[in-house]
Amino acid sequence: MSHEPWWSSAVFYQVYPRSFADSDGDGIGDLDGLTARLEHLTYLGVDAIWLNPVTVSPMADHGYDVADPRDIDPVFGGMAAIERLIAAAHQRGIKITMDVVPNHSSSQHPWFQAALAAGPGADARGRYYFRDGRGPLGELPPNNWTSVFGGPAWTRIVEPDGNPGQWYLHLFDAEQPDLNWEHPDVFDDFEKTLRFWLERGVDGFRIDVAHGMAKPSDLPDAKDDVKVLSHSDDDPRFNHPSVHEIHRGIRAIVDDYPGAVTIGEVWVMDNARWAEYLRADELHLGFNFRLTKIDFDATAIHDAIDNSLAATALENATPTWTLSNHDVGREVTRYGGGEAGLRRARAMAMVMLALPGAVFVYNGEELGLPDVLDLPEEVLQDPTWERSGHTERGRDRCRVPIPWSGEAPPFGFSTTADTWLPMPADWAALTVEKQREDPDSMLSFFRRALKMRRDRCEFAGGGLDWQAATRDTLIFRRRGGGLVCALNAGRRAMALPPGELILASAPLVDGKLPPDAAAWLV
Ligand code: GLC
Repeated sequence: MSHEPWWSSAVFYQVYPRSFADSDGDGIGDLDGLTARLEHLTYLGVDAIWLNPVTVSPMADHGYDVADPRDIDPVFGGMAAIERLIAAAHQRGIKITMDVVPNHSSSQHPWFQAALAAGPGADARGRYYFRDGRGPLGELPPNNWTSVFGGPAWTRIVEPDGNPGQWYLHLFDAEQPDLNWEHPDVFDDFEKTLRFWLERGVDGFRIDVAHGMAKPSDLPDAKDDVKVLSHSDDDPRFNHPSVHEIHRGIRAIVDDYPGAVTIGEVWVMDNARWAEYLRADELHLGFNFRLTKIDFDATAIHDAIDNSLAATALENATPTWTLSNHDVGREVTRYGGGEAGLRRARAMAMVMLALPGAVFVYNGEELGLPDVLDLPEEVLQDPTWERSGHTERGRDRCRVPIPWSGEAPPFGFSTTADTWLPMPADWAALTVEKQREDPDSMLSFFRRALKMRRDRCEFAGGGLDWQAATRDTLIFRRRGGGLVCALNAGRRAMALPPGELILASAPLVDGKLPPDAAAWLV
């Protein structure tokens, strides 16, 4: 009997609900669509779902602008639909983890509406960051912070008397005002939200912007060179030390529900600072994004893996691995696109699945979907596009709906061809239906790899040792079970290390591993 918690080696499958499966023909995916497609997840062999936000939202940032955290948006099917999903997933032995968004609310949240109506100095304003502007008439924002999506992080409001007045802080879209966690209502309400979902059988949470929430009290200016959709460790907008008290509070609640897991989105690069979030009384798991930031390069991959292992080791925590998600783009494209991109993505899936810890697979990754780089400008929906003054196209490229079946869009995703983002006609070759029939497809391959990872004792235990390899190749061996993983990121075929070959991402050539390929040996 293992005493490890279920999530310590789990494969989480990230479902971007708008894009997974549409049950009611409005062109937007929903929860009943997901429930009807759970068989795909059983077929693939995943342990848990991470569901991107489905709570009530005006959808300015597709659910990351929450107007009611304790109800499901009608577009996703309402409360009854999530109850059906939880029951059906649990029946299949699949856990459900949900996104929660503590850093900000929607501007349509009743608290923010009350704050606007209440006027300067009112307690209702204290739940957010309202400040007077600088300049003689308060016409300048309180500091120089920018929104992660571009443009200023402050928006000036019209006061109830009709005059321009205070400014409020929003690190993301203007429809996403930042909550002030120093106001006691904010934690109390978040506690209600966590308990609400845990009582309904949810198995844990992915905590959005887990390194946000706390701000330095004097809100000092940031450096001038802050970029859209990224930030450094010395950025005053994020990672303020008092955030850890919030995480301890969250953990104390979640600990009332044995087995429930918290996974933080922690964009902090310094290992010591990052690991603070994984202390025994804070988050269970934290995303490490280094593998999403690098090319198909052996040295960079080696460093990213070492870095993640070293960071988690600081707190004896479980490593997590992820190659892509709804924010960072798909790896097939990052590795060069086309056939080479696909081969490399397949090889990197094997590297990821060979590593000790929890793995996150983003829906469509198992099909080898690329980013859709040529979406027409008029269909772009990510707020980044508008807020960056049309200089950053944003993240829609990796959010295009999943192709299930058939020869033309919407490929079984919906009954309408008018899907919320258009689907490329050449995805006909990538449908789940086609790939299930083809033993050499990415999907069949993923399924085989996941089954081995689940069934074989060689994948047991934490830790790994690197073995001698050339500059363009990698070989590591799992310390516990002894699995060996070899990756060839070079241009010439690679001699395999000793052992019995159990899986290769491409056929061997004269007994050697070709370029852009990986192998598992025992
Ligand atoms: C996180 C989410 C991203 C969202 C942002 C604001 O980074 O992953 O999709 O836009 O938070 O909530």
